[in-house]
Amino acid sequence: DNITPVTFGPVFHFKGVRFFPTADRRAVELVESFEVRDDDVFLSGYPKSGNTWVQQIVSLLSTEGDLSEVNKIPIFVRVPWLGTMDKSGSGKPMPKFLKDAPSPRLIKTHMPYHMLPRQTREGKGKIIHCVRNVKDVVVSWHKMREGFEYLPSGTFDENFQEFINPEQAAFGFWWDVVPEYWRHKDDTNMLFLKFEDLKRDLRGNVVKIANFLGKTPSDQRIDEVVSYCTFSAMRDNDATNISRNELFKGQRKEGFEFVRKGKVGDWKNSLSPEQSKILDDIHREKMAGVDLTFEFE
Ligand code: A3P
Repeated sequence: DNITPVTFGPVFHFKGVRFFPTADRRAVELVESFEVRDDDVFLSGYPKSGNTWVQQIVSLLSTEGDLSEVNKIPIFVRVPWLGTMDKSGSGKPMPKFLKDAPSPRLIKTHMPYHMLPRQTREGKGKIIHCVRNVKDVVVSWHKMREGFEYLPSGTFDENFQEFINPEQAAFGFWWDVVPEYWRHKDDTNMLFLKFEDLKRDLRGNVVKIANFLGKTPSDQRIDEVVSYCTFSAMRDNDATNISRNELFKGQRKEGFEFVRKGKVGDWKNSLSPEQSKILDDIHREKMAGVDLTFEFE
C-alpha cells in the first residue's frame, strides 16, 4: 500500500556499461560487494528476455501460503531489482535495503555476469538466467522504450542502431552479455533458461525451476502456479503487467501494455528485411564458436 509513483533518474555509465532508468548509480555501485546469503535467488536476464515471467514463476514457487494473495503483490516488490533505489519509502539503494529483508530473498538484476555480486560468482546463492532470441528482444525493447515516458526513446531505426552499437546498447551489448552467461551455464549455482522453451513447455519449465530450487510441489500446486503464469493471466494482472500498475501512473503512454504480445517471431512485424539481415550477420559473427542456438520463429 505504501508504494508511491516515483520519478526516475538519468541514463548513466558504470564500468563501461550504459544503464537506463530505473537503474540508479547509487545502487549499481553497491552490487559487486553485496553480501549474498546461501538461500538468495538472483533472477537475471538481458532486458525483454522474459525476466518478469521467470520472476513470477519463481516467486510463486517460493510461496508456501495462498498463491492467489501473493499473485496480487506487485512483482517488483516480490522480486526487487538490485540496481535500483528502493521505492517503498526508505530512500535506500536496494543493496542496502535488502540487508534487512527476510530470507529467502528473490532478487532481480540486469547486470552482465562479471558485474554480479562477487559472492554469487564464487558459488554462493543461486542464479537463474533467461535468454531470448535477439530479434524479438530488439523489438520488445523498442516497444517498451516507446511505451514508458521515463525511458528515453528515439524512432525504431534509432533504437535499433543503438542496440547494435556496443558503446550505446543499454545494460551491455547483447552479444557480450549472453555468451558470457552461457559460459557459466554449467556452474552448480546457475540455471540457464530460454524464453522460447518456456513458450513451448511452460509446465515443464516450472518443474525444472522447482527442481533447481530444491522444491517438490505437488502436481496440483504446479498446475496452480502455471495458471498464474500464462500470458493472459500475467497480462490481466496489474501486479505483473506493470504498465497498469499504480507505480507507473503517468509514465505509461496510451495503450502500452508491458505484457504485450509474448510471442516468438513477433519481430517480423517490425524489422525490415535489411535490419533482419544486419542482425543475422552480427549474430553469425559474434556467436561463432558459441554452441547456444535460438529459435527465431
Ligand atoms: P513482448 O514485448 O514481445 O510481448 P521482460 O520481463 O524481460 O521485460 O520481458 C518482457 C517480455 O516478456 C514481453 O515481450 C512480454 O510480453 C513477455 N512476457 C511476459 N510474461 C509472459 C508470459 N506469461 N508469456 C509469454 N510472454 C510473456
